[in-house]
Amino acid sequence: MKRILVVMSICAALAFGISAAMAADGAALYKSCVGCHGADGSKQAMGVGHAVKGQKADELFKKLKGYADGSYGGEKKAVMTNLVKRYSDEEMKAMADYMSKL
Ligand code: HEC
Repeated sequence: MKRILVVMSICAALAFGISAAMAADGAALYKSCVGCHGADGSKQAMGVGHAVKGQKADELFKKLKGYADGSYGGEKKAVMTNLVKRYSDEEMKAMADYMSKL
């Protein structure tokens, strides 16, 4: 199962990497999110919240920013709050952009 996810994320990274330079960055960054959100973003992370797949880039970016400043989140928001602290606005934008195309 893990292997399939790895292969899928590599394929996605290649496909997006060639088509758009911005997304290549987001694709690389999103690799650390795959475990909880799924390679295609359709997984409900840890059984809570919404899947990231199907959401618009600006919505996703606002949510990431919201986790960072504590204004967004559900019962397990601490997981995301700790994670997003590692990323700059630019990196969050690149990931939001990538996730919106999954
Ligand atoms: C350890 C598991 C885990 C990892 C790794 C993880 N997430 Fe999450 N993510 C969650 C959980 C749990 C939630 C729901 C939290 C809540 O609000 O209760 C969530 C929620 C989100 C949401 C909000 C979805 C919505 O519509 O409410 C976004 C966007 C998101 N994560 C992006 C990311 C990105 C980008 C990464 C990689 C940098 C990432 N996540 C890595 C567990 C994880």
